[in-house]
Formats: sequence, structure tokens, C-alpha cells
Amino acid sequence: MTEIHKDQPKKKLGADCPESACRDQFESTLKKYEARLRQLQLEIVSRREENEKIVAENLKHNDELRDLNEALDQKVQERTIELELAKTDAEAQNEKLKEIGTSKEALMHMVVHDMKNPLTAILGTLGLCRGNRFQLAADVKGLLVDAHVQSVKLLCMVEEILTISRMQSKEFEVKPEPMDMVGLVQQSMSMMSLTTGGKKIFFRFEPAVTELYVLGDYPTIERVLNNFMNNAIKYAPSESEIVLEVGIQDNMAEIGVTNWGDAIPMEHQDRIFDQFYRVKADAAKYSGTGLGLTFCRLAIHAHGGSVGVQSPVPPKDHGAKFFFTLPLSAKPPEV
Ligand SMILES: Nc1ncnc2c1ncn2[C@@H]1O[C@H](COP(=O)(O)OP(=O)(O)OP(=O)(O)O)[C@@H](O)[C@H]1O
Ligand SMILES: [Mg+2]
Repeated sequence: MTEIHKDQPKKKLGADCPESACRDQFESTLKKYEARLRQLQLEIVSRREENEKIVAENLKHNDELRDLNEALDQKVQERTIELELAKTDAEAQNEKLKEIGTSKEALMHMVVHDMKNPLTAILGTLGLCRGNRFQLAADVKGLLVDAHVQSVKLLCMVEEILTISRMQSKEFEVKPEPMDMVGLVQQSMSMMSLTTGGKKIFFRFEPAVTELYVLGDYPTIERVLNNFMNNAIKYAPSESEIVLEVGIQDNMAEIGVTNWGDAIPMEHQDRIFDQFYRVKADAAKYSGTGLGLTFCRLAIHAHGGSVGVQSPVPPKDHGAKFFFTLPLSAKPPEV
């Protein structure tokens, strides 16, 4: 049993008193919390200030942005007006150029047309002189014959320019009728073999079909074929072959003329069908006007067909194959 001594010392209130310790601890914690609270309040105030600053800056940026937007809008509007004015200007100029082009073509047509009469008169006179009506020295007659030949060429050129001009102004109308393409190629081949200008040319006809009827205007198609053949002869080397083909391709008749001269450079292939366009190397070597293929293109297009060239011709690395297509005719021509 524990003994209770009366003279045991009483517990003092102080550092080692538990209540006092509790209070101290409580006060110290309270102080800490108060300090933390003040710190937080300070932080809140500083954050608020920062936020206010940011909001003020944002508002300023917004104002700047709005100003910039307004300036941009203004500039876009000004530029749009400028562009619209420039467009109207360009359209007016385009119209003017078209008018100039049309009147230039009309003028050229008129001049070329008016050349026909005096040229025909010169031709008639030269024709008379080169005949036997006058007693002329042989050398003078030779000169007159040359002049007559050149005048005939000039008249042909005049006719060609007038025809092309008519075709371009849509006045040109074709009256397609059934025609025998195999027969026309054979006939043209016989005629052309007589006019090779001294070149030794072998013609080979390779029809893929025995009969081929097309819808075409006979004299126009004959002229197209003769143009292709003339070119083939002109641009072929001597002692070479010209191959003529007829067949059916995509429900259209296709007529091809191949010669074995130099290949036509790719960059010229689209342009050789343009008026007056000639490959430079050929223009230096051969005479010509650059109108033949233009006539062919316009004439075939007027029939609803197409023209084209393939060069070089496989399997060789040279040569050119010119071809045109025409609508097929179900019926043969009327006799
Ligand atoms: N069969 C061909 N082989 C190689 N080049 C060709 C052939 N046919 C045409 N060309 C090229 O295309 C160009 C244009 O031909 P196009 O028939 O229009 O005019 P041209 O023969 O020069 O003169 P022309 O108006 O007297 O016929 C020619 O100058 C030539 O360079
Ligand atoms: Mg030609």
C-alpha cells in the first residue's frame, strides 16, 4: 500500500504545471495561426493587386487589339476597293484588246482579200506571157515561168489565210456526208506518189479494215489528208517509207500518216497546230508558211473529230505519226 505523507510538496502553477503548458502551447499555436493568417491576408492582397494589374493589362491589350483589328479592317476594305478598281480596269483593257484583235483580224482579212484581185490579174498576165503568144527570149521566158509559179504559190497562201480566217470566225460550216475513207486514202496516195519532188518515197497502205465510211465534207477532208501527206513527203528523208493507216479507235475512224524524218521535239508538238508556227530547224531547211496544220485542226474540229501527233514513233527513236479522227458513218456514200 502506498503511504501518504502529509508533508509532500504541493504542485506549483508554472512551467512544469500541465495547464500552464497547455495554455502556452495554445497561445503559441494561436500566434502562429495569426501570423499565418496575416501572411495569407498579405498574399491575398498582393495577388489581388497582381490580378488587377493583369486585368488592366488585358484590357489595354484588348483595346490595342481592337484598334489593330479596326485598322486591318480599314486596310482590307481599301485594298478590296483598289483590287475591284484594278479588276474593272483590266476587264476594260481586255475588252479593248479584244476589239483591237478583232479589228486587226478584220483588217488583215480585208487586206488579204483585196490582194486576191490584183494577184489574179498578175497571174493572168504572167500566164499569157509564159505561153506562146509573144516571141520572147528563152531566158526572159524562164524568168516569167518562175514569176508565174511564185504567184500561184502566193495566191494559194492568200486562199489559205482567208479560209483559216473564215473558219476562226465561225462562218465556216461543213456539210458532212457519208464518204469512203479507204478509197480516198488510196486515191490520195496514187496522186501524191507522182509529186514527191524528186524524193524516192515508198508508200505503204495498212488498212486495219477493208471498208471505212466516215461523215465528212469530201473536199475539206481530201485537203486535210493531202496536207498531212505533203508534210510527210516534205519532212521525210529520201529513200524512206511513208505509212498510211486507217482503222477504228474509240468508235471513231482514225487515219494516220507516218514518215521517218527527225523526231519533233516535245515542246513543239502542241504548238505546230497553231497558225504560222514552224519548228525552227525545219523553217531553216524547208519552205512553208505554217498554215497547213492549222487548216487541218480547224477543219477536223468542225467535223467533231480531233488531230494529233506522236513523235518519235516506237519502236524507233525518230519519225512522226500525224493522225486525225472522224465520226463513223453507218451508210456508204450515195453513188
Ligand atoms: N510530217 C512531219 N514530220 C515532221 N515535222 C512536221 C511534219 N508535219 C509538220 N511538221 C512540223 O510542223 C510545222 C507546221 O506544219 P505546217 O504544215 O502547219 O506548216 P509548214 O509545212 O511549215 O508550211 P505549210 O503551211 O506550207 O504547210 C512544220 O513547219 C514542221 O516543223
Ligand atoms: Mg505543211
